[in-house]
Amino acid sequence: MIASAKQNLNLTLKVWRQANPSAPGRFETYELKGISPDVSFLEMLDILNQQLIMQGEEAVAFDHDCREGICGTCGVMINGQAHGPENETTTCQLHMRKFKTGDTIVIEPWRARAFPVVRDLVVDRTAFDRVIQAGGYVSINAGNAPDANSVPIPKTMQDKAMDAAACIGCGACVAACKNASAMLFVSAKVSHLAHLPQGQPERPQRVMAMVSKMDQEGFGGCTNTGECEAACPAGVKLSNIALLNREYIKAMLTADETASSDE
Ligand code: SF4
Ligand code: FES
Repeated sequence: MIASAKQNLNLTLKVWRQANPSAPGRFETYELKGISPDVSFLEMLDILNQQLIMQGEEAVAFDHDCREGICGTCGVMINGQAHGPENETTTCQLHMRKFKTGDTIVIEPWRARAFPVVRDLVVDRTAFDRVIQAGGYVSINAGNAPDANSVPIPKTMQDKAMDAAACIGCGACVAACKNASAMLFVSAKVSHLAHLPQGQPERPQRVMAMVSKMDQEGFGGCTNTGECEAACPAGVKLSNIALLNREYIKAMLTADETASSDE
């Protein structure tokens, strides 16, 4: 017997609306009917916006770009969970089949002092860019790129670097953390370069500069609750935070040495 297709959904949405960063925000309630379980969460928001525009109301502002789980631009709290109820899934890759008809869905922006609300569900995540600018790069002033595989890197190191490089900078780790800590994000960026030969020359300066910038931007400290790992759509592991802590202590202990070798 062929199983019957899952029924279309009638939903109640409670959506955070905020006209600008200084305006007071509030939840607005909207009813949506006949939503296909096959559409994505962002497509469901598109349908809501179409309905609002037809009624002469302001569309809900939300961030998105690739809609393929690659860019890290989308991202909202869905019923209190960063990116919603599906493991290792961005908001744009979440499908409405995860919900059932009659559900009430609460949709909020990331809540963190370092990510101020711009409008509705859009937050300003440029604090992440400034942390990267502080040291999350490799300075290469050595002519053309070398041939592929000319720098030998053990497979275990490649795997660790690639797992950390999977971070898409979405900010879900910050939003999920009760301290709004950016340690998972920063640890992914530090770990990625610490495992590659190209990252070695600037290794101590990088970790010190990125941690210092992270603190300046107003992110909180890590208290090892693990919510960040649970919320991460890219599967970035807490073991990177352990590595970040080791890297930071090593860099602190050798700070004088590093400074004098730069002179
Ligand atoms: S570590 Fe994970 S949750 Fe945090 S920014 Fe990177 S991809 Fe997003
Ligand atoms: S829109 Fe690019 S990851 Fe969701």
